[in-house]
Amino acid sequence: MSLENLLTWAPAGSREASLVRQVNFDRLPVHVAVIMDGNGRWAAQRHLPRVEGHRAGIDSVRDIVETSARLGIEVLTLYAFSVENWKRPPTEVAVLMGLLKRYLRLELENLLVNDIRFQVIGRQDELPADVRRELDVGRERTRDNHGMLFNIALNYGGRAEIVEAARRAIEDGLRPSDLTEQRFGEFLYTAGQPDPDLLIRTSGEMRVSNFLLWQIAYAEIWVTETLWPDFRARHLLEAILDYQKRDRRYGGITQPAVVGH
Ligand code: FPP
Repeated sequence: MSLENLLTWAPAGSREASLVRQVNFDRLPVHVAVIMDGNGRWAAQRHLPRVEGHRAGIDSVRDIVETSARLGIEVLTLYAFSVENWKRPPTEVAVLMGLLKRYLRLELENLLVNDIRFQVIGRQDELPADVRRELDVGRERTRDNHGMLFNIALNYGGRAEIVEAARRAIEDGLRPSDLTEQRFGEFLYTAGQPDPDLLIRTSGEMRVSNFLLWQIAYAEIWVTETLWPDFRARHLLEAILDYQKRDRRYGGITQPAVVGH
């Protein structure tokens, strides 16, 4: 989307409009990954049951998915449910699964309109059959879209992903002498995708929580105190602007500015 169109979306004089004007669209993060955290605290602050925080978090999901696509982010990955989250009370797990199904059903048209391709990363065979069906529909219907790739990490664990990838590599007959980082990456859920450039975590926790452990090797991390249900386009824009100020060295050194010829 052009800057003009983005400015039509952001109300004149708004914080969003002012932030959009500062973005360097030639240096956008290609892949943004988000650890959505703080739903429970958001609900507790309002004396509401925890699940109300998850329900409110859906509005943030909708806003961030659409804003990312509008900005021209190529890949967005949201951490919706970890392999550890099964330890939560069964009613909370059931609400989370229900919200996910509802989101997919209600948002499918929007994903199609915005040319977004939807994909799931994680152990899908352990998910309830009705959820799997909804995920299949979402994936199938958006398969031919060419805009942003939207990954939902569901029943996802970074270590589990690496172990599974190793198992698949062995089953595939990959010889130790042929094993390289690049080749190994082809056995991960994110095969063929660029690694995240920017990892956002809400609610102030300084942890990576078993998320994309292999892929975030060189990601820039941005943590905000904002709780996920309060996270909106302006926060994403703030994260992108901060990212654009970072000097990404990938373990090397900053190249001195070239003076003259
Ligand atoms: C962390 O908050 C959040 C989650 C475990 C779930 C996130 C899920 C959603 C926002 C809804 C479904 C997602 C999609 C993509 C449709 P927490 O409960 O750990 O919060 P706390 O740390 O404050 O207790």
